[in-house]
Order: sequence, then C-alpha cells, then structure tokens
Amino acid sequence: MKSKSDLPGKNLQRRDFLKATAVTGLGLAVAPRLAFGRKQADRKVNIAFIGVGGRGRSHLRNLLNRDDVFVPAICDIDPEAIQKSQNMLQKAGARQAEVFTGSDFAYRDLLEKKDIDGVIIATPWLWHTRMAVDAMKAGIMAGVEVSAANTIEECWDMVNTHEETGTHVMILENVCYRRDVMAVLNMVRQDVFGELMHARCGYRHDLRGVKFNPGVTFGEGARGEARWRTQHSIYRNGDLYPTHGVGPIATMMDINRGNRFVSLTSHATKSRGLHNYIINHPEGGPNHPNAKIKWELGDVVTTLINTAKGETILVTHDTNLPRPYSLNFEVQGEKGLADFDYHTRRIYIEGISKPHQWDGMDRNEGETGQTDQMEQSAADTKSWLEKYDHPLWKKYGEYAAGSGHGGMDFFVDHAFVESVKRGDPPPLDAYDAAAWSAITPLSERSITEGNAPQYFPDFTRGKWINNKPLFATKGDDY
Ligand SMILES: NC(=O)c1ccc[n+]([C@@H]2O[C@H](COP(=O)([O-])OP(=O)(O)OC[C@H]3O[C@@H](n4cnc5c(N)ncnc54)[C@H](O)[C@@H]3O)[C@@H](O)[C@H]2O)c1
Repeated sequence: MKSKSDLPGKNLQRRDFLKATAVTGLGLAVAPRLAFGRKQADRKVNIAFIGVGGRGRSHLRNLLNRDDVFVPAICDIDPEAIQKSQNMLQKAGARQAEVFTGSDFAYRDLLEKKDIDGVIIATPWLWHTRMAVDAMKAGIMAGVEVSAANTIEECWDMVNTHEETGTHVMILENVCYRRDVMAVLNMVRQDVFGELMHARCGYRHDLRGVKFNPGVTFGEGARGEARWRTQHSIYRNGDLYPTHGVGPIATMMDINRGNRFVSLTSHATKSRGLHNYIINHPEGGPNHPNAKIKWELGDVVTTLINTAKGETILVTHDTNLPRPYSLNFEVQGEKGLADFDYHTRRIYIEGISKPHQWDGMDRNEGETGQTDQMEQSAADTKSWLEKYDHPLWKKYGEYAAGSGHGGMDFFVDHAFVESVKRGDPPPLDAYDAAAWSAITPLSERSITEGNAPQYFPDFTRGKWINNKPLFATKGDDY
C-alpha cells in the first residue's frame, strides 16, 4: 500500500520545511517509506477530536497525513474551529466528520458513538481530566494535551479511572520527542553521564501576546488561548505549565519506573509583567480597565523537586516577561553534563572533553550561534547529537520535519495512533500524566504555605519500584 507520505507534493513541502527546522549537524536519514499499519495488517483506526482550536487542528493535520486513520467525528463549541477543521478534511480528500457542538457537554454524545477507537483532547486545561475520564469510561483511549490535570483529585481521577476501566490515557507531551531531547535520553541510557544527580528545565516563554489577543483583551470575545488561559494568571500562583520541561526529564530519570517524584518546594517572584504589558500597550494604558487587575501569578516561579533516587530537578515557569523562548534543559551526572536548548547545545564529559571546556553537541557550530566559541571534541568525528540520535528520529526524521514544533509533533501523534492500533499501553501513561501534572497544585500550595515542602502522592501505589521504563524503548517502532 502506498502511503500518503509518498505523494510528491507532500514530500516536497516537507523537505522545504525541513531545511528551515532541522536540528543542525544531525545529518538526514534518507526519506523513509512509511507503511503504517503493517504490524496489524491494514488496521485503520477511528480517531475523534474534542477541541479543534489551534492545537487540535495541528494534531488533525498530522493525522490526515496518515493512511491508517479515519476522523469520523469532531467536537468543539466554536463554529469557526469546526469549519476550519472540515475544510482541512475536505482538502485532504477525507469524508466530512460528524459534528458535535452546541454545548460544553456535546462531547459526551460524541463519546457514545460506537465506532471510535481513540480521541484527542485539545481543549482548555479545566476540561482535560473530565473529558479524558469520560472517554476512558466509554472504553475509548484518550490522548490528552498538556497539562492533563489541575488538582491532585483530578490526578487521582485519571489514575483510578484508568485502573477501573482498563482503558488507557496518554499525555501528549511532544517535547519528550524533541530530537536533541531524545539524543540526550539515549546518552543517559548509554551511561554517558554516569548516575544522574541533577536536572534543570522549565517553560520560559513570553506569552504576553498569547494571554492578550487582540490588544490587551482576554476572556470572552478574545482570540485563541486568551479566551481561557489568561484567567489562570489572575487566580493561581504556581508552575501552571510544568510538563514541557519535566516530561523529558522524567523519562530520563525513570519517574514511575524505578524512581518517583517525592517532594517539592516552590518560590514565586512578585507579579509585574502582565500589568506592565497592559499599561504600555497602545490599545491599553494606565486607565484601561484591565490595568486594575491584580495578577496572582508570580512572573518567575521556581520549583525544586526531590526524587526517590536522590536527584534534584529545578523547574522554572516564566511566561510574563520579555524574553526569548527557552526550555532551559540541563542534565548532570557523575561524569559530566549536557546543557541544551534550541540555540545552545553543549556537553562536558570528564576524560572526553578538554578539561573545563564545553564541547558543542552539534557538528555545524556556525549555525547555533554560541557554539562557535566551543571546542568540538577532536577525538570524535561524529557530533554528539549524531552519534546518539535516537532510532526513531533516524527512521522518521525527514518525514516528521513538517509536522510541527520542529518535528516532535509527528512522534507524539505516531505513538498515540500506534498504541490505539495495537491496544498497547501508551509510552506516556496515566501515571505520567498524574505525576507531572501534580506539580501545578503542589507548587501552588507550597507558595501559599511560605515555600513549605509538599509531598507527591505515589500514584503508582508502589508499582514504581518494579515498573520498567517504557518510553522510547521499542527501537525505531514508536
Ligand atoms: N503540546 C504543545 O506544544 C501545545 C501547544 C499549544 C497548546 N497546547 C495545549 O493544547 C490545549 C489547547 O490549546 P489551544 O492552543 O488549541 O487552545 P485554543 O483556545 O486555540 O483551542 C481550544 C479549543 O477548545 C474548544 N473548547 C472549549 N471548551 C470546549 C468544550 N467544552 N467542548 C469542546 N470544545 C471546547 C474551544 O472552542 C477551542 O476551539 C491546551 O491544553 C494547551 O495547553 C499544547
């Protein structure tokens, strides 16, 4: 069977995109011939969507590129989002989806449809757990966007429902699949750093133009995430979006699989960024009604997590101040460390790197700015990232490149679809969703209680001791 990926137009588009987004110096695999569905011959799955805003449509675009997925139904309360999605289906030559809309709970009618194998949930945060729980109760595997839960109760709801129904939920944390992140995961598993000691990560993203859109408006009548995300900054002070940073580190530290998060403390700065944005914006000003709002969310929230195996993880949430985007990764072990982000990828391993000097992780230093000051290890003709490039990226790298966020979105959708097809536990499961999402309510409580330590529930009920790592353990499969 010829994959849709073999259509010349689609490949061309992908290659063009690839030039702009490839991780420098990794080298490109020859375009793979994709044959999705081979494992379970010709099994196609019906994947429905709840929430087809910006993120939902990005998943939809990826799934429409596959020949093993039908999209029988979509649900959204916004007619414009529905129309845009139907246009995408039409353009892809797919049947129009059955539409569920008109009320916040129309999604429950969608879940009653008999022919749905999986559902992608990309709605505002406060809907995630409720929708994922209802999907599992309907026997439908849920792929839920990040974060998966808002409260400790919701974290338990997710785990308990999974255990009661035997149906899975996958947290769709795409950053776990970033190419450099997966290469560092490979290094961790191949003992390049020795025993891990410490990691740093975060979500450092100037979201002022997302929280206010257009101008300085938010809430009803605003656009995109400004309709719902901004409210959280008024009422909540904590790390509101921990999983892009913590998810990848959790896979490296085998959280819930030989290790677990034990406790955390959180600290928040004062809040200035959102107020300043409003008063300095041409459509705002000091007399604008939104200038009176008291923002609860500290501009920079810093959390320190302890793990059962004795590592610490420093997590930053920083979304209200002017700054370039950064997830701020560092992974440190007994033998050395990697410090990696989109514009800086460097590593130091004792005995391999020149003493006290970083090695650039990319071969092509010129393209990453800062790395041209760094020495490449002369002993190794391949760059670190090439040498440890994950088999999944070697196989699907070129295909993935046009899928969003530099390619990682392909892999998270691929893992979800393959898990649904095979009925396998997903690589990022209910326990991951619970442990990672729990950081938000625990950090809020720590800040409220004067930075007091907070303890993570053991969502695995002790199974973490014997659980084996699952994420990216299937070679180049999914
Ligand atoms: N992993 C990533 O890289 C990434 C990127 C962007 C967003 N996200 C996450 O994806 C989720 C969605 O974000 P977005 O940017 O698409 O937001 P969005 O506001 O663009 O889309 C949300 C959609 O949900 C719909 N919706 C709201 N309530 C609903 C209900 N009760 N039933 C059905 N539909 C409903 C809205 O009408 C809207 O179309 C969020 O959790 C966000 O954090 C993740």
